[in-house]
Amino acid sequence: MRPYSPLELAGRDIYIREGCYNCHSQMIRSLRDEVERYGPYSLATESMYDHPFQWGSKRTGPDLARVGGKYFDEWHVAHLVDPRDLVPESIMPGYPWLMTTPAHSATSANALKANRATGVPYTDEMIEAAEADFTAQAQPDSDGAAAVATRYPKAVLRDFDGNPEMVSEMDALIAYLQMLGTLVDFKVYDATGSNQR
Ligand code: HEC
Repeated sequence: MRPYSPLELAGRDIYIREGCYNCHSQMIRSLRDEVERYGPYSLATESMYDHPFQWGSKRTGPDLARVGGKYFDEWHVAHLVDPRDLVPESIMPGYPWLMTTPAHSATSANALKANRATGVPYTDEMIEAAEADFTAQAQPDSDGAAAVATRYPKAVLRDFDGNPEMVSEMDALIAYLQMLGTLVDFKVYDATGSNQR
């Protein structure tokens, strides 16, 4: 695991603000039907940098622990604006304002510092670069993009919402969703969850 990138961390804050955890868990239990539906069961390490953790206790919607890479960004945009456009029977609310609300890079360094105070190993360099990394992750052709990938391995660098004019709350939330479940290499774990490396 690595600490969340500044943009992912902002997306996580939006996830909490909007109460997504009231309907979605992020914890796949070690039960056969769960593993068959969602993938490898959740490991304690996967939430080691979560303050507070997002395990959840209610599943009105599916578990999201491994949703990263399951859908295209365009799917997430359309689904978050109006879930019923894609899933007619969905009871999930729409969050259309995420498209038009800018995500705030200026508070990013403070968010990293606050997480560092709880034990997340953000370095001085990461905190110094937080504001630049925040924007660069959503601007894959910008000069700063390569540095984001170095500081945060496996970070997805993309203009998530398809609007290059602004880094929106939609960009941040989708950056977070596309990262979920992608940081641990499950090929090194056997069926009992023990590390084979
Ligand atoms: C009132 C309950 C509710 C809330 C609140 C809610 N969802 Fe959902 N969500 C659902 C339901 C039900 C589904 C399944 C139907 C669908 O795909 O729309 C779903 C599906 C999803 C999926 C697709 C999962 C998959 O594997 O197919 C994603 C991603 C998602 N929600 C993200 C979010 C995010 C992010 C938020 C907060 C901004 C959120 N949801 C808030 C109920 C909710």
